[in-house]
Amino acid sequence: MRSWYVAWIAGLGLAAVAQAEETIKIGVVLPYSGVYASLGGDITDGMQLAFDLYGSEIAGRKIVLITEDSEVKPNVGLTKTKKLVFQDKVDLLVGPVASNVAGAMRDFVHNAKIPLIIPNAGNNLLTGEKCSPWVIRTSFSNDQINRVMGPWLYEQGHRTLYLMAADYSAGHQMMEAVRRGFTEAGGEIVGEEYPPLRETKDFAPYLAKVKAIRPDALYVFFAGGLAIQFVKQYQDFGLKGEIPLTGAGWLTSPLFLPAQGTAATGFIGALNYVPTIDSEENRAFQAAFSEKHQRTASEFTVQGFDTGRLIVEALKLTSGKTADKAALVEAIHRVHFTSPRGPFRIDPATNNVIQDIYIFEMRQTGYDIRHVVIDKIADVQDPPNGCKM
Ligand code: PHB
Repeated sequence: MRSWYVAWIAGLGLAAVAQAEETIKIGVVLPYSGVYASLGGDITDGMQLAFDLYGSEIAGRKIVLITEDSEVKPNVGLTKTKKLVFQDKVDLLVGPVASNVAGAMRDFVHNAKIPLIIPNAGNNLLTGEKCSPWVIRTSFSNDQINRVMGPWLYEQGHRTLYLMAADYSAGHQMMEAVRRGFTEAGGEIVGEEYPPLRETKDFAPYLAKVKAIRPDALYVFFAGGLAIQFVKQYQDFGLKGEIPLTGAGWLTSPLFLPAQGTAATGFIGALNYVPTIDSEENRAFQAAFSEKHQRTASEFTVQGFDTGRLIVEALKLTSGKTADKAALVEAIHRVHFTSPRGPFRIDPATNNVIQDIYIFEMRQTGYDIRHVVIDKIADVQDPPNGCKM
């Protein structure tokens, strides 16, 4: 009786293990509410499209996403990450969007040795001084997007620059990248403002200062609801056509453009993707996305798409095995492909993506407002920045 009971229990255990191994669980920590909610939505849609196109089942194991809302709050992001690891026992993690949330998740992920693939948050430290073998970034570092713009703006003839960005790690890191390049070239920063990330509803007090100082150009980082509000108020304030608007290219993302309309024209930005990239891969991607969602895919969609593709290709290399996390990361390093944004690969020295950066201007032709590429810097790779794996 007793031995039968033990065998029965053991059998149950085996069944449970077999079942657990059936699916590949990906824990997703993204904002589905708050100032960056739409970014989280685009990343998720992009990832899903990659699984549709490149495979949602590997070696008989189906890929399952378990999504959690980070609310763009560091403590919530960390709590949800722990829940996904301890309760859901996910095989790997994807997230987050915001640099401050990524900063809060880093130590836990590093100690738990669970691969975390970052599909947006650009926090420099995570692929620099605080890099980890378990933290891989498919999006960008804050430095990587912005550092090209300092010397570029100086070359365009600008000598004074005013900086404005959301007041948290990402905003400060991006402005530092521009400051360094611009002042090294010989330019001067004549003012800077950091409106709060979650509470800013009105940019008027900040724009009034810019108007009074009259810099050669204004350089900004805003995304989500802040980007929509900022671009509209910059125009309402009469600054458009007076003080050139430049910045990190998310400001006029296809995700925010319908709400901004013609107020967005004239903006000059730097980014890792624009929807007008003239390549076969990009045209096929945009066509597949718009067939499914009836809208233009954004840079956030592409980052989700490439994250999904990287996961699928790496899992094919491990024959669907996820238990050996070091082997999984090693497979991730071996995956190279041509993304809608251009050549894509992960730098094993930092785990940050190596990619092309586009400088574009928003221009109107007829009813169309488009990202027109005016310059491209190929294969932008971060220096190790103190990263020792
Ligand atoms: C970030 O917090 O790292 C971040 C958020 C939104 C962006 C870009 C960077 O569009």
